[in-house]
Amino acid sequence: MSTISESIEAGGATPPATVKVWDPFVRVFHWSLAALFVTAYLTGDEIEQVHIAAGYTIAGLVALRVVWGFVGPAHARFGNFVRSPRDVIAYMRDVVLFRAPRYLGHNPAGGAMIIALLIMLIGTCTTGFMLTTDAFWGVKWAEEVHEVFANLTVALIAFHVLGVLVASFEHRENLVKAMFTGRKRRM
Ligand code: HEM
Ligand code: HEM
Repeated sequence: MSTISESIEAGGATPPATVKVWDPFVRVFHWSLAALFVTAYLTGDEIEQVHIAAGYTIAGLVALRVVWGFVGPAHARFGNFVRSPRDVIAYMRDVVLFRAPRYLGHNPAGGAMIIALLIMLIGTCTTGFMLTTDAFWGVKWAEEVHEVFANLTVALIAFHVLGVLVASFEHRENLVKAMFTGRKRRM
């Protein structure tokens, strides 16, 4: 038994050892993105000014996150969590078999989901912007493409949250809380 769990069992005041994983930018990015996405989704149909403002802010956040993926701290870097499709599939098989290893940063499936989400957000914002131009204003098929992008993103988000819950359960840790505090149990 480790010294830490001994001291906890003995009623000691030592909290479980945690390490800083998510930097402040990643955390602020994440929760503002989630709130703005809901705002943009709910206002798409009628409150156009709010919708477009939320949409542009999302585009800006995503652009910053892409830059951060190259220059940010270790766990924020794409190189740290983007894996080959083969690794992602192998990892997902391990999840199903309940033997997936724990990662301090994003796991391979989470990494793939992040890339998919960022691509879909770029697609949604680009097609949304197109609707404000003379060439595509009022063009029905362009509106539909924008809506399809938005709805596919919603579907991905549902799997994203499911993945977070499964990983939290499998490794007995609260990943949602970690996205607020930035800290996780050390390996
Ligand atoms: C209630 C809803 C949500 C919850 C509980 C949630 C939770 C989380 C958690 C726990 C992580 C870290 C995963 C890990 O430990 O590896 C994460 C990452 C991420 N989530 Fe969410 N999320 C939510 C909604 C969203 C939405 C709506 C979006 C996109 C519009 C989104 C996009 C992302 C992205 C891009 C990351 C990667 C963060 C980074 O490295 O910058 N999430 N989410
Ligand atoms: C992630 C960000 C975004 C989401 C989730 C989103 C989602 C949606 C949704 C669900 C609709 C409703 C379509 C309908 O029911 O007719 C819509 C419409 C629209 N969006 Fe977005 N959008 C986003 C970003 C943007 C951006 C960045 C712009 C412009 C710069 C934009 C411009 C528009 C316009 C002009 C419409 C009205 C189209 C119409 O008249 O049907 N959107 N959006």
